[in-house]
Amino acid sequence: MTQPELAVDLCGVRLSNPLILAAGILGTGADLLERVAKAGAGAVTTKSCGPEPRAGHPNPTVLDWGHGLINAIGLANPGVEEMVTILKDAKDRLEPLAVPLIASIFAERVEGFAEVAHRVSKAEPDFIEINISCPNVAAEFGRPFSADPDSAAAVTMAVKGMTHLPVIVKLSPNVTDIATIARAVETAGADAIAAINTVAGMVIDVDCGQPILANRVGGLSGPAIRPIAVRCVYEIYQAVEIPIIGLGGVVDGRDAVEMILAGATAVGVGSVAYYRGVDAFREIAQEIASFMIEHGHKTLADFKGIAHEEWPAPAN
Ligand SMILES: Cc1cc2nc3c(=O)[nH]c(=O)nc-3n(C[C@H](O)[C@H](O)[C@H](O)COP(=O)(O)O)c2cc1C
Repeated sequence: MTQPELAVDLCGVRLSNPLILAAGILGTGADLLERVAKAGAGAVTTKSCGPEPRAGHPNPTVLDWGHGLINAIGLANPGVEEMVTILKDAKDRLEPLAVPLIASIFAERVEGFAEVAHRVSKAEPDFIEINISCPNVAAEFGRPFSADPDSAAAVTMAVKGMTHLPVIVKLSPNVTDIATIARAVETAGADAIAAINTVAGMVIDVDCGQPILANRVGGLSGPAIRPIAVRCVYEIYQAVEIPIIGLGGVVDGRDAVEMILAGATAVGVGSVAYYRGVDAFREIAQEIASFMIEHGHKTLADFKGIAHEEWPAPAN
């Protein structure tokens, strides 16, 4: 059988495979983004950047608790001015590799998102991803913008008004009804949705009786959250027409396939870099290809969303 086609079209941008480096993982510098691109990622996302430089939370900020990671980095970043320089450098390195660049941004106020989007657009990344869903950082009114449809839509609209680039909105699983929020950002002009950001959690050291992270609460990622992520992608797929980047707990090719079966067009991978190193990108792509050969699929579209089709009842 000929090799299956792994390329996908995301909002008119070609990815040679569906695997996207998730925001905040190895995305702090142009050299690291290039390294991940060379390791086989279909696209790469930067660490989220805000209007001003930000130190983040004190250590400890990341812990492997046995079934995944918990982190409260607190969106440490060099600020938009420095990020524009990093983005331009990254763009120069990634263009020859034909690996698209996604600039992740955040702010504490709607106007801040608009300003950062405007400035970042000048570096001409291929997409802007708006992180309205970090569980470790309070935004306007003390909670993330992803917490309700109106504030999520307000940020989306403000960013869309400031950029010519396709806008991905990254949603949080820490809500009652993610489908309603997805629908609100689609109506506000989002070009794609990324789901999910980390799941709010806490790990307590039972010997000393205190939470381990200095920030006390953090965000869970890695294998433990995959069923939550798959459920969110499944619910969003039923609610919107725009493409979905499914992420959360993907560590191998079959996990990536599960996201696509739930309705994802592309698949984000983050914590896997901790578990399998950057070689994971090429390996996971090969594992997806092996699955496709085994099941006779020629393209990813052949099985995208088919978990939504109910099997006919077996004949008696
Ligand atoms: C250490 C760490 C830092 C992260 N930083 C960001 C960030 O800056 N912006 C963002 O949108 N998501 C951030 N995330 C969330 C990831 O992009 C991703 O949504 C989440 O980890 C689930 O995917 P995974 O299980 O494959 O890691 C971070 C996750 C981790 C583990």
